[in-house]
Amino acid sequence: MAKEASGISRRALLSSGGLAALGGALAACAPGEPAPPERVADGVQPVPPMGEHQAGISVPTAVQPHLLLGVYDLEGDTGTVLARIGESILALTSGDHPALAGIAPGDLTVTVGVGPRLVQQVAPDGPGTEPLPAYPREEIDDRHRGGDLVIQVCASDPLVPPLTLAAVLENTPGLAERWRQRAARGPSVPVRDGHSAPRNVLGFVDGIAAPVTPDELAESVWIGDGDLAGASILVVRRMEIDLPAFHRLPVAAQEGVIGRERASSAPLSGGAIDDDVNLQAKSPDGKYLIPVDAHVRRAHPRPAGVPLMLRRSYSMDDPLGLLFVSYQAELRTFTQTMERMSESDALLDFTRTTAAGVFLALPGFDAQHPLGSTIFGAS
Ligand code: HEM
Repeated sequence: MAKEASGISRRALLSSGGLAALGGALAACAPGEPAPPERVADGVQPVPPMGEHQAGISVPTAVQPHLLLGVYDLEGDTGTVLARIGESILALTSGDHPALAGIAPGDLTVTVGVGPRLVQQVAPDGPGTEPLPAYPREEIDDRHRGGDLVIQVCASDPLVPPLTLAAVLENTPGLAERWRQRAARGPSVPVRDGHSAPRNVLGFVDGIAAPVTPDELAESVWIGDGDLAGASILVVRRMEIDLPAFHRLPVAAQEGVIGRERASSAPLSGGAIDDDVNLQAKSPDGKYLIPVDAHVRRAHPRPAGVPLMLRRSYSMDDPLGLLFVSYQAELRTFTQTMERMSESDALLDFTRTTAAGVFLALPGFDAQHPLGSTIFGAS
């Protein structure tokens, strides 16, 4: 049950003022007094699930280290299924769900996206209706391409994502699993105010160039208008990496593949970690400091003519590689970047992509406004 003794009721947590109420309740704990055990583990800050956007996309500034992502086919009424998933999310993040077996959810977030087939049924011309194109270096069978629903679960405690996903599935009839992937992130290094990013399995800091402020997120991540206001487009790609081959390169050559120094993360064009790469900078003998096929050159938003996507990738141990996850207001932000990379990105030579999908990451929700109800309306 909700922790009335802490001065915050379950209802207050579920209301739109829940975040402020929760912050107030935590701040109200006297020094040394234990925090409410249902939600807080080892100083990890809870992430309230309600709001304009789904909390897992941008709220955790310290992105959680553990991820479990599943892709499903959906049978039955989409609105009803989504509303049920939303109820599970509210219950699981509130900390009193029996499926967590007494383990604190901590900073648990569950992010849900709906695939093009289902979006086409209700809004045939809008965002989220286009499937992801195929690209070179893909080995993707039908089961691992597309899908009706993605559920992305993130938390600091490695036990929380599998227990949470199991509970959501248990409570939601009509979902058939296509594939799932576990992945993790190491500790983050500071990039700039309000933004930090972890090293990936290559040893390079990943996620440096990112929209951070509300204005930046509004420009490049959130869909602004209509029934989809507050939503985003989620792209996921399971990219296996030939790590032995990459690590056989001298570090300087690895840095040329990426376009940044490995240790400092500074662009090869100079400056510090938080400086933008300078694609024009040349050495005295006329060579580009950022090689012509470096990943940061091919992926840079300016030549692609798109805003900056929000990347939230996680490293994988099985298979070895990167579970690439990005959020953007328009799919073309991803596709125009991927097209430029496919032409000549030295990093892609070390990869093969074995699963991919695009999903409409639904707008935020709360107890009064069920998950997905602005688009699918629960019946
Ligand atoms: C194996 C897969 C990948 C790895 C290991 C990887 C790694 C990196 C690294 C280390 C950086 C430089 C630091 C940073 O700004 O975060 C970077 C930048 C970037 N990556 Fe990737 N990446 C991968 C795939 C992708 C894909 C599939 C896309 C999108 C289509 C992408 C888009 C970007 C963008 C937009 C930047 C920022 C470029 C800039 O403005 O400087 N990456 N990536």
